[in-house]
Amino acid sequence: MPRTFVVLAAIVTLSVLSHRPLLGQEGAPPAGGPGGRPHPMGGAHGPMPKPTNLKVLPKDTSPEDVIKVMKGYTQQLGAQCGLCHANNAATKHPDFPSDQKPEKNTARTMMLMTQEINAKYLSQIHDPDAAPDQKTVTCGTCHRGHSMPVTFKPPAKPATGPSGMHPKPKGNS
Ligand code: HEC
Ligand code: HEC
Repeated sequence: MPRTFVVLAAIVTLSVLSHRPLLGQEGAPPAGGPGGRPHPMGGAHGPMPKPTNLKVLPKDTSPEDVIKVMKGYTQQLGAQCGLCHANNAATKHPDFPSDQKPEKNTARTMMLMTQEINAKYLSQIHDPDAAPDQKTVTCGTCHRGHSMPVTFKPPAKPATGPSGMHPKPKGNS
């Protein structure tokens, strides 16, 4: 299992445990009734179907783990499932295996990019002081709750003090 996935799954598991009602954000009617577990497949009944169209996540990822990863994406991108998943025109429910929305393939490229940043580059940085989440790039590192990353603009006011834009001329006081 790629390390990125394990890390994401761990982060996501924690957030799922502390934010249970989040499922309501999908706009799907809760299938389990009050207190019951809402079904992530848009209100369909029965067990979660096995994923059939995984191209980046390991093919044997359990349906539960896929959902944990997906909920992580919604949180890190401040988005809903529908950002990447198209609705089935007939049923009006999300068709999760479908690759119809270009955002889904963009997300696959992003998953590969994030894995490579961690595996190929961050793995070369030896910083014993950094906590595990500090030495790992996730979707949220760039996206910070937005589906399109917000362009960084330095604060308008120039910083004061020794690192400011206008250092004192040398030898004058
Ligand atoms: C940022 C884009 C994005 C968001 C948001 C997102 N998904 Fe996904 N989802 C994907 C991608 C990409 C895949 C395919 C992963 C792969 O190829 O390994 C996928 C796959 C799935 C699958 C497996 C489908 C199959 O049979 O192959 C399910 C189920 C799923 N997502 C459910 C959800 C749910 C539920 C949500 C909302 C909580 C959600 N997704 C939000 C991008 C997203
Ligand atoms: C290194 C920074 C970075 C990381 C990490 C990253 N992204 Fe992105 N992402 C971007 C940038 C920049 C764009 C805009 C690309 C463009 O439009 O040309 C983008 C665009 C996207 C889009 C398209 C959004 C839209 O509205 O069209 C999706 C979906 C997406 N990212 C998903 C993800 C997911 C899922 C992850 C984690 C697996 C991730 N990204 C990790 C930088 C990043």
